Amino acid sequence: MATSKISGFYKKNLEERLAIIKKFANLDKEEVAELKKYAAMSFEISDRMIENVIGTQQFPLGIATNFLINGKDYLVPMAVEEPSVVAAASKAAGIARETKGFKAKASPPVMIGQVQLVNVKDCEKAIKEIKKKSREIIDLANKADPILVKFGGGARKIETNTIDTEKGKMVIVHLLVDVRDAMGANAVNTMCETIASELEKLSGGKARLRIISNLAIYRTVKASAVFTKKALEQSFRKGNLKGEEIIEHILEAHHFAANDVFRACTNNKGIMNGIDAVAIACGQDFRALEAGAHAFASLKGKYTTLTKYYKDKEGNLVGEIELPLAVGLVGGAIKTSPVAKISAKIIGVKTANELAEVMACVGLAQNFAAMRALATEGIQRGHMGLHAKNIAVMAGAKGKQVEEIAAKMVEEKNIRVDRAKEILKGTRKGIKKL
Ligand code: MEV
Repeated sequence: MATSKISGFYKKNLEERLAIIKKFANLDKEEVAELKKYAAMSFEISDRMIENVIGTQQFPLGIATNFLINGKDYLVPMAVEEPSVVAAASKAAGIARETKGFKAKASPPVMIGQVQLVNVKDCEKAIKEIKKKSREIIDLANKADPILVKFGGGARKIETNTIDTEKGKMVIVHLLVDVRDAMGANAVNTMCETIASELEKLSGGKARLRIISNLAIYRTVKASAVFTKKALEQSFRKGNLKGEEIIEHILEAHHFAANDVFRACTNNKGIMNGIDAVAIACGQDFRALEAGAHAFASLKGKYTTLTKYYKDKEGNLVGEIELPLAVGLVGGAIKTSPVAKISAKIIGVKTANELAEVMACVGLAQNFAAMRALATEGIQRGHMGLHAKNIAVMAGAKGKQVEEIAAKMVEEKNIRVDRAKEILKGTRKGIKKL
């Protein structure tokens, strides 16, 4: 099997990069041609996806290398506008490779659908009636999606709860549905709408909202990796910090995030940099993932980090992540967007659970990379190269000039458009002189 450990992928030109991906993911000529078009999708496809279409907005699609997860190599497509995200994920995955990469495990793909019952006179009695008839309610829900049932999924369980609100006491019914390889919103929403009238009869109340919850507490993924002292130390070319020290600094950073909501928020933003980028590349509902992740981060009554770090017996750093990831391989943009379809082929996952596992590892890698940089040399160094290139382009540099001017500004630690213009002027004079 091909390896995802590719050194210097960033130094290769487009043709060379595509040749590697083509071979790794077994892409055909048409798929490679689609990627080379640099046009995300036709008007016809976009106009079927959303309303009032006037164009398409594109992100750069990058490939994170080095990912080894549960013993399998992955090249991970990431669509994101922010510099350094893809490089950081690849770097972290490279460090994790030293200890055989990441381990990840997704729970069964069980989503929650909610039915809100209002105007219920006796909530306790209503709940008793609903519980008594839960088998019948589940059967009714399953009749609404025989295909899902055929593929081994379907409604599994009913849970009930009451809430006291400004508009009185309400009964909230949760329908737990195994959605298999779907994200699940369509199946769950249809089932909730189907069982609503039965719930009204049983409760004597009125069913209002019938909708999926994006807080998918039963559909979570756990992932972990060990980052050794040695690999951490060697990951800095001119590092003057020992592996042990780097680990202590990362642990301090972790405890900052674990105990401070302002830091936890930014920490989790970094995690979602990676997860959203894979989600966008693969046509997933990244808003649902964002909402779920942040709600999960505050489930214990205090918003906190989604990752955890500690030392193992050898003093190496263990990183862990747990979060809900409701992603699908059937339905949605992964089946309609041409680039999302190719991204799905590149990532090469067989099930939605496997996709969730890869995404959790990318989230952990992204967080580890940010911690490693923040706790040592700071984040700006890594950002500077690409940032400087953008500034050079803004100043009017073209072709080779972009690299040259960027390198000069990084060397001078003075990355500004006016400086780029000055250097550019000097270069032009130089060219004229020649
Ligand atoms: C920037 O997009 C993400 C970081 O701020 C994440 C973090 O602080 O952990 C670098």
